Amino acid sequence: MSVYLDNAATSFPKPDTVYQAVDHALREIGVGPGRGGYRRGLEAGRLIFRAREAVAALIGAGDSERIVFTHSATESLNLAVSGLLRPGEHVITTTMEHNSLARPLHVAEQRGVDVTWLEADGRGCIDSRQVADALRPATRLVALSHCSNVTGTIQPLAEIGAVTRGAGVFLLVDAAQSAGSLPIDVGEMSVDLLAAPGHKGLLGPQGTGFLYVAAGIELTPLMVGGTGGHSSGLDQPTVMPERLESGTLNTPGIAGLLAGIEFIESIGRATIRSAETALVDQLVTGLGTTPGVTLYGPAEPERRGSVVSFTVAGHDPSQIGFHLDRDFGISVRVGLHCAPLAHQTIGTYPAGTVRVSPGWFTTARDIDLFLQALHTIVKR
Ligand SMILES: Cc1ncc(COP(=O)(O)O)c(C=O)c1O
Repeated sequence: MSVYLDNAATSFPKPDTVYQAVDHALREIGVGPGRGGYRRGLEAGRLIFRAREAVAALIGAGDSERIVFTHSATESLNLAVSGLLRPGEHVITTTMEHNSLARPLHVAEQRGVDVTWLEADGRGCIDSRQVADALRPATRLVALSHCSNVTGTIQPLAEIGAVTRGAGVFLLVDAAQSAGSLPIDVGEMSVDLLAAPGHKGLLGPQGTGFLYVAAGIELTPLMVGGTGGHSSGLDQPTVMPERLESGTLNTPGIAGLLAGIEFIESIGRATIRSAETALVDQLVTGLGTTPGVTLYGPAEPERRGSVVSFTVAGHDPSQIGFHLDRDFGISVRVGLHCAPLAHQTIGTYPAGTVRVSPGWFTTARDIDLFLQALHTIVKR
């Protein structure tokens, strides 16, 4: 028996069409886009274009040239932070961030950028008034996650976007835990930069990700180099997306990402969200009757994504994870989940929590098996 409940790390399994798309790109296309004026190169170019259009449609971005393919959400966040911020500028972030955003901001801080770390409440929630109160004349950016990978807390993005738009400040969103299952519309939410991985809720392979960069924002590239076209001079092209995409793209990965997004659109994002919400409800209810359990994150289902963190009095999270895996074949993530500040905020530092994250392929039976196994472990 094997039960996978770590979709917040990487979604697994993938739809069959994702495996097929990666295989097709490797076997039948072979080359990358712009690397040959012959049939295969053109096919790769068309595939990448379709994937860019699919990502743009998914997040409500009008112009797919503003979608930059990267290898991870981490790369996207690094590109946004280091490409935008200059010494003397001010950025507002929160204590709920994953190290993929917190560490680039910490490096920026060491290079002379002022960083305000807004303290979330015990459920991981940030209020848009906290953002408004922290604004300064030098504020250039507000950067935060849409949904916490520790508590599942969904932040009030549209309200925060109204504050940043009103103040003429950019909004960078880490959509690692929301892309694919929560509604995202960069226009409606006033989002200027949005980073997401391809391998979590978008159901694509690892080694894929993207950054949306709103029209009018010019980022300094993280890397310069070959872009396939515009090859005549030494200067990096100024046109998007080539300006920010150097090196051969991960065509097989992007083919898989496109298939993942097509799968999501065929099911419907609202259907995925309500299936995940039902599994989260089942988990929260079951954990509520498990002796010694403390649950973290908001109680309201509409404020919580598909992530549930808990601790059990008298049991180390890592021991629970070890026994779930060894004795029951159940995979969950334990510890700090690359977000130490979030654990300090909710009071679970340094041991962390046990995190359970259902995905589209998780069944109610998987959750039952997990709850039964947990009962057995805590009663031993
Ligand atoms: C909230 C959040 N941001 C960023 C990341 C980093 O994603 P990636 O590993 O694709 O770079 C993760 C991954 O766990 C995450 O949960």
